[in-house]
Amino acid sequence: MILSMRGLSLAVMAAGAAAQNPVTSGTGGYVGSNACKTCHADVWLNFYKNPHFKSVASGDLPPSRTGCESCHGPGEAHVAAHGGKATIPNAFSLMPQAKALEACLTCHARDFQKANIRRSEHTLADVACTSCHSIHHSPTPKFLLAKKQTELCYGCHAGIRAQFEMPSKHRVNEGFMECSDCHNPHGAFAPTWRMSDHPRMVDQALNNEEPCLKCHVDKRGPFVYEHPPVRVEGCEICHFPHGSTNERLLRRPVVFTLCLGCHNGGASGTRNNGVPLQTSPHNLLDPRFQRCTACHVRIHGSNADETFLR
Ligand code: HEC
Ligand code: HEC
Ligand code: HEC
Ligand code: HEC
Ligand code: HEC
Ligand code: HEC
Ligand code: HEC
Ligand code: HEC
Ligand code: HEC
Ligand code: HEC
Repeated sequence: MILSMRGLSLAVMAAGAAAQNPVTSGTGGYVGSNACKTCHADVWLNFYKNPHFKSVASGDLPPSRTGCESCHGPGEAHVAAHGGKATIPNAFSLMPQAKALEACLTCHARDFQKANIRRSEHTLADVACTSCHSIHHSPTPKFLLAKKQTELCYGCHAGIRAQFEMPSKHRVNEGFMECSDCHNPHGAFAPTWRMSDHPRMVDQALNNEEPCLKCHVDKRGPFVYEHPPVRVEGCEICHFPHGSTNERLLRRPVVFTLCLGCHNGGASGTRNNGVPLQTSPHNLLDPRFQRCTACHVRIHGSNADETFLR
């Protein structure tokens, strides 16, 4: 109780301080959101539903952070001129993507500590905030997206849709998953798996691990006996993440060809690449031995057997 009363009095004090601040009383070029209503009724009347309305509702932020002018900049000159694009400091239709990005980041930079926002593949390709978000005309209540997420991404990545139509797939097109379950469209830092190669904006889940492990928790380990590629190269060394004509999203139609990509019986005779191909216990001329995972059932790691037999 005491705490909440203190919170209240702080808020009142802040509001009082703001009222005495010369900026709110008309200088600095800020005129307040109400001044926009007469000419922009459509935008203005819908704004109460916008998460950015919070700044108006709270009433205790400086004018540079409140309402319409928090994004568009001080509107005095624009109002005096009775409109015009060039008279409002941030007219997004005239702004290059890079400048729009900075306008949004004045408030949102902190949200992207894990996103590498300024050097993401999207930012580098000039795909920025307003390519994906629509502040005033979003059809989706969540995250102010310009379109429903999957359609938004397919709008530019049309080729990916077909991958999610393959016989073995993640059910993205059916609406059970979204691109953002695995990707961070705001960018990602170099991953800890696959030796930091080609991050492809694959999101890093807790502990910087692959996002796959959020759902496939039984593959997480740590296992007493790890199968190194699962962690080192990452899941996608053996699986296509989107879809595949091979069952279980595998990169090869027959499991043993996948295994032999690494365990290729090379002359060096090391354990890694030196599986004896035609001797007991692996006579690969006998089809029975070609179903590697029929015996090596714990292929993602085992707590009981160093050759993943159980
Ligand atoms: C969070 C930032 C932000 C806030 C707050 C904001 N706008 Fe916008 N506004 C934009 C962006 C970005 C665009 C470009 C079009 C888009 O993405 O929807 C835009 C476009 C516009 C346009 C051009 C026409 C249109 O419908 O797209 C008008 C007019 C406008 N805003 C007025 C306002 C008014 C009035 C307010 C306050 C009620 C306001 N804006 C608050 C970011 C903002
Ligand atoms: C007297 C009427 C009037 C008032 C008041 C007014 N505007 Fe405008 N505004 C206009 C007109 C007219 C345009 C259209 C200019 C054009 O399309 O050439 C416009 C355009 C805009 C745009 C669009 C720029 C773009 O990207 O195309 C924004 C943003 C905007 N106004 C914001 C505001 C804000 C914020 C306020 C309140 C501080 C405000 N306006 C008050 C008349 C007004
Ligand atoms: C390539 C498309 C794309 C771009 C570019 C983009 N976003 Fe997003 N943004 C999304 C999607 C998709 C989501 C929803 C993510 C989810 O469902 O978890 C989102 C979510 C958000 C959220 C809410 C959740 C969160 O992650 O904090 C904020 C805030 C946000 N974006 C702001 C921005 C800003 C600011 C920029 C520019 C600096 C930007 N976005 C650029 C697609 C994009
Ligand atoms: C003046 C500060 C400020 C600016 C500038 C600003 N935002 Fe925001 N934004 C906020 C606040 C505050 C929230 C609400 C966060 C919350 O709900 O806790 C928000 C929320 C969002 C959300 C999340 C909506 C949701 O459903 O969770 C998105 C997306 C977003 N902003 C995008 C943008 C984009 C794009 C721009 C640039 C055009 C922008 N913002 C500019 C302060 C700002
Ligand atoms: C406005 C167009 C546009 C939208 C919308 C868009 N992207 Fe992109 N995306 C690009 C461009 C351009 C690139 C960089 C060039 C390339 O690699 O294709 C890119 C790159 C990527 C990459 C990295 C590709 C690589 O080879 O490294 C991924 C992953 C990605 N986008 C996912 C998404 C997701 C997920 C969404 C939806 C949330 C989305 N994109 C929305 C245009 C877009
Ligand atoms: C199950 C996780 C997952 C989902 C869901 C997912 N992706 Fe990916 N995506 C990945 C991984 C992992 C890679 C990196 C693959 C590689 O480099 O071998 C990738 C690569 C990409 C690439 C670059 C390589 C290419 O094939 O062009 C693009 C673009 C892309 N994804 C877009 C999307 C879009 C758009 C969606 C949603 C419609 C989506 N992804 C959904 C995990 C996923
Ligand atoms: C949001 C949760 C989620 C994430 C993240 C996720 N998956 Fe899945 N995955 C599923 C679900 C659910 C299925 C079951 C198939 C279905 O939806 O019909 C599945 C199926 C699979 C299958 C096929 C299983 C079978 O029996 O055919 C493989 C392989 C797979 N995922 C690998 C991955 C990889 C690799 C990643 C990361 C690139 C990943 N998953 C990320 C939820 C997820
Ligand atoms: C060395 C290759 C390899 C790597 C790396 C790998 N997998 Fe697999 N995975 C397989 C094979 C082979 C199968 C099919 C097993 C079978 O036929 O019984 C499989 C099956 C699966 C299945 C479906 C059956 C089950 O066990 O649930 C899922 C889900 C799966 N993998 C997820 C993952 C995830 C998540 C990762 C990364 C953490 C990963 N895989 C890494 C080879 C691999
Ligand atoms: C991307 C390369 C790669 C692929 C693909 C791969 N492995 Fe491995 N595997 C390794 C490495 C590296 C080791 C560790 C070797 C070592 O410790 O000497 C290993 C170890 C093993 C071991 C443990 C025995 C040992 O030598 O330590 C077995 C059993 C095994 N793999 C079976 C398989 C099977 C079955 C498949 C196909 C489903 C497969 N591997 C696919 C790289 C791979
Ligand atoms: C009929 C069951 C069976 C099949 C099928 C099978 N293995 Fe094995 N694998 C074994 C047994 C048993 C061992 C020996 C375990 C031991 O020596 O402790 C073994 C050992 C291994 C080892 C470790 C070799 C070493 O020198 O330590 C690797 C690697 C391996 N298998 C890979 C494969 C690959 C790749 C395939 C598919 C081409 C495959 N296995 C098919 C039963 C099988």
